[in-house]
Amino acid sequence: MSSLTVHAGGLDLQNPVLLAAGILGTTGASLRRAALAGAGGVVTKSLGSVPREGHHGPTVVAVECGLLNAMGLPNPSYRNFQEEIEIARKGGRPVIASIFGSSAREFSQIARGLKADAFELNLSCPHAEKYGSELGRYPEMVESVTGAVKAAADVPVWVKLTPNTADILELGLAAQRGGADAVVAINTLKAMAIDIETGYPILGNRFGGLSGRAIKPVAVRCVYDLAAGLDIPVIGVGGITSWEDTVEMILAGASAVQVGTALQRGYGIFEEITVGLARYLERKSLTLEELRGLAGRRS
Ligand SMILES: Cc1cc2nc3c(=O)[nH]c(=O)nc-3n(C[C@H](O)[C@H](O)[C@H](O)COP(=O)(O)O)c2cc1C
Repeated sequence: MSSLTVHAGGLDLQNPVLLAAGILGTTGASLRRAALAGAGGVVTKSLGSVPREGHHGPTVVAVECGLLNAMGLPNPSYRNFQEEIEIARKGGRPVIASIFGSSAREFSQIARGLKADAFELNLSCPHAEKYGSELGRYPEMVESVTGAVKAAADVPVWVKLTPNTADILELGLAAQRGGADAVVAINTLKAMAIDIETGYPILGNRFGGLSGRAIKPVAVRCVYDLAAGLDIPVIGVGGITSWEDTVEMILAGASAVQVGTALQRGYGIFEEITVGLARYLERKSLTLEELRGLAGRRS
């Protein structure tokens, strides 16, 4: 079998297929289970400085080719999550803590108070007032939050970017200037659905974020642009449901990928993807490194 080990964003990964933030990452047990099922690393649900209940329901609705969600960042706060991270670590794979705040100071306070193998800064959630993309759409904010967390943390810092912007590379360059070890692209696309019988928006929050198959071409384009313009690694996420999608994302320039919505099919997806990827590399006589960014090198 071809080797799938990779050094990406300051972490040594046994394989490049990680669990995305917010999907099954709400307890240590579910994170550990994803690691034992073959994920190369696991990202927690985004953690803030105080407990939050999130938005009123419905918070998730299935739409054509994906999910629409407006969870509203429910979480128990980072102060109540350290034990869960220790449980998750028993899966033997890096545990990346996704964190959010409303200022550089709040982000760095959390990074100082929490121990994880890396931090992923949620500067991209499209449906939480004062958080996520409300900060992350401004390059100067991305740079200052990243710089503050880098100064506070002694582990790698990844910055998760929003696609809800005219130029995602501008945000990626800001993260790089701030000292990020990697960027993660993409979070969900701002979207909504309306019930035609009642005439009301379906989600409790009216609008939310679209994920799943529908957004894969958007994510591939974002990863391609970021990989071409940045010196730091890009972690690709958005609509990955198979090993073929993973190959496509790596061809676009991703050093690793994350899988979210497709976990609806069960934990077996990690093994399905890694086995398929290894066989593809063998068939093409390519290493993972040779595959990465190949589409950008074709004239
Ligand atoms: C129900 C749900 C909850 C999510 N929660 C978070 C979160 O807490 N933090 C975050 O950065 N992204 C969150 N996301 C976004 C995913 O991590 C991912 O970026 C996005 O869904 C695209 O990937 P996918 O198409 O594989 O799901 C969430 C997505 C879904 C569907």
